[in-house]
Amino acid sequence: MNVAVMGAGAVGSSVLELAAEYGHTVTAMADSSSAVVDPGGLDATTVLDRKNAEGVVGSADPEDALEAEYDVLVEATPTTLGDAEPGFGHLRTALERDRHVVLANKGPVAERYGDVRELEAESEGEVRFEATVGGAIPVLSTIESFGPDQITTVRGVLNGTANFILTRMQNEGLSYEHVLAEAQDLGVAEADPSFDVEGTDAALKFVIVANVLRDGAELTLDDATVEGIHELPASALDLAEEDGQTIRLIGEVTEDGVRVGPRLIPENSALAVSGTQNIVQFETTYAGSLYNSGRGAGGPETATAVFADIGHLE
Ligand code: HSE
Repeated sequence: MNVAVMGAGAVGSSVLELAAEYGHTVTAMADSSSAVVDPGGLDATTVLDRKNAEGVVGSADPEDALEAEYDVLVEATPTTLGDAEPGFGHLRTALERDRHVVLANKGPVAERYGDVRELEAESEGEVRFEATVGGAIPVLSTIESFGPDQITTVRGVLNGTANFILTRMQNEGLSYEHVLAEAQDLGVAEADPSFDVEGTDAALKFVIVANVLRDGAELTLDDATVEGIHELPASALDLAEEDGQTIRLIGEVTEDGVRVGPRLIPENSALAVSGTQNIVQFETTYAGSLYNSGRGAGGPETATAVFADIGHLE
């Protein structure tokens, strides 16, 4: 497929680098300040070199990327709250042109799910968004394969940055500020890391899960009860450890809604994953619990989910 990529951060850059391996051609790419459009397909090395050398990807208006020839738009600009712009506008433009949209940006499906579905219904294009939840881990497609009615609760760790911070603070005795800086260096933290540590990023992901699970619910972040780890004292982790327990930023979707917050869990619990790992527990009506875990953040990891979604469009 011909792919246009909006957003040249960790995910957008990885989509550009890996596209050829998956048999796709990137014909346009833009960051917030500029774009390159090439109907013959972009050369990843050239574009990334230019980005490093000049701090921008090209010289045209970012909107030019939306006017280029493509079959699918990958929307990977940073997640924004409220009206979810500019990502939502990019999605709208592509759907109005009857193009498919694959989202890595959580904003449109966490904040304007009803609007997205409405635009999709009027378009020949389809919207897919596995990459918005749990990076490489198939979360939404697991719900899809079971059928939403068969899953009663979804629970787990869906923010790698917060999990990394909690793990390193407890295991290595490092300070919160030090480990947050490490997470930013690893490229797993959001452009605005307060999204990670205040629980917003995890809450957005569980809101997206709820929207897929409960058709017509059309929840937004405002419907979630959210508490972060940014005010958690290091002494709480010490006390937990003395008792064979640990603290993880756990989110859940139950029939009561969406909740995210630090929770005390046994150290040997399946949910006590380490570092940047994510884990999701699905409770089903007839088949007990099943767990998906793995890399929930990072450029190449999230790009694999983008390509999985593109594969479903073919
Ligand atoms: N900042 C996110 C995390 C990246 O730490 O999990 C994936 O959405």
